[in-house]
Amino acid sequence: MASLTVRQLDDRLKQLLRLRAARHGRSMEDEIRVILRAAAQGGSHKAAEHAAPPVSPSPRVSSAVAAAGGRVLLVIGGGIAAYKSLDLIRRLQDRGTSVRCILTPAAQHFVMPLAAGALCGERAYTDLFDPQSEFDVGHIRLARDTDLIVVAPATADLIAKLAGGHADDLASAVLLATAKPILIAPAMNRQMWAAKATQRNLAQLVADGVRVVGPNAGEMAERGEAGVGRMAEPLEIVAAVEAITCKTGVLSGTRMLVTSGPTSEPIDPVRFIANRSSGKQGHAIAAAAAAAGAEVVLISGPVNLPDPSGVTVVRIETAQQMLAAVEQALPVDVAVFAAAVADWRVERVSSRKIKKQRGGPPKLELVENPDILSTVAHRKSGRPRLVIGFAAETDDVIANAKAKLKKKGCDWILANDVSPATGIMGGDANTVHLVTASGVESWPPQAKDGVARTLVERIAAALVEAKK
Ligand code: CTP
Repeated sequence: MASLTVRQLDDRLKQLLRLRAARHGRSMEDEIRVILRAAAQGGSHKAAEHAAPPVSPSPRVSSAVAAAGGRVLLVIGGGIAAYKSLDLIRRLQDRGTSVRCILTPAAQHFVMPLAAGALCGERAYTDLFDPQSEFDVGHIRLARDTDLIVVAPATADLIAKLAGGHADDLASAVLLATAKPILIAPAMNRQMWAAKATQRNLAQLVADGVRVVGPNAGEMAERGEAGVGRMAEPLEIVAAVEAITCKTGVLSGTRMLVTSGPTSEPIDPVRFIANRSSGKQGHAIAAAAAAAGAEVVLISGPVNLPDPSGVTVVRIETAQQMLAAVEQALPVDVAVFAAAVADWRVERVSSRKIKKQRGGPPKLELVENPDILSTVAHRKSGRPRLVIGFAAETDDVIANAKAKLKKKGCDWILANDVSPATGIMGGDANTVHLVTASGVESWPPQAKDGVARTLVERIAAALVEAKK
């Protein structure tokens, strides 16, 4: 059998391939074999989906960070994934980022401070009360003299300490003393990850503005164990670092509208028809776009969420009001329709409370609501350059999403399985498939914030690509 040699791929394809291979823990050649095998089996989209890259870095982001250099303080926690953090140091340095390292006491059971220090080009910091380090750097300067702190692996214990505001060792003291953004790459046994305490701590960290990359699903360090809990691959962490440190904003100069939450269609003054929607995903997209420098208008139905910072929020109740607000917000460069719009409304809304009657329940005549996504996507003039819809499905997720892409005339659909068993409805995590005219990409299960950031990166990359 001849061996495979990868040549004559452009840089972007090579980078995609490298990410995809890293994500699956394969060599680039092995990854190509998997892709070819899937294609030979008739291109079953299941195989293609699983081989798809979770993050596509924007070329603009990468070059901007490389040019800017940037400083990362890497906190290595005590988990078996710590060995990957040594590779992470190299990957960051490849992009012109300078890296300083802190090792927790537990981390030193897995990697040597000497190894981390040798890679960083300066000694690794380990001790809060080390007189030498307090003299030459000190924990406050470690916390200050960086653009970003990355915690990888972020163990359950480190996450708990960070959420609780502990400061009893160097890593936790620095994390508490910093005003810089923090990115964590959780890694732990799947049960520890699923534990209520971990999820509670994580929700607290996300609410506090801590960014999260991963964890991924797959085989764990323990023999025969698999599930969600594997640390994100170094290249995925680098992509997340780039998305954060490129503060000039990959979407600066872009005007964007996002719809979010449910609509509420009145029956009478006390009753209404609505879809289930927490608005978490739409709000996270608006927040991520604003953080990336976009000017964002968020048009939201009734939700129980704070307004994302830096975003103009327009509150509406009904689908008709949502359509009017959307048209008011145009023109925009990008429109993301994440709202769960009620498909029908009651034709004649009673101005008085409908009383129960002997003759049985009232007969409600329903009429169809305007399809906001389709209306905007089919505009002859003033159509946004990129129109993105969602497809909430319980069956045949991909097939239904492909049909919706065509029917609604949008450019991309983010499809997700909202069957009750998935816990996506109202939950903090999401598993989505990006369906475009050119194919289907399945992103790994991740926090809705992570989905939002990945989407923002993809939008930025698509806008750059469209300008070429
Ligand atoms: N959407 C919209 N206006 C509507 C209905 C849906 O803008 N009246 C948008 C949603 O915001 C989403 C996409 O269309 O981006 C798909 O919504 P979904 O509820 O999955 O599909 P429907 O069009 O309602 O089709 P069905 O209920 O038959 O699956």
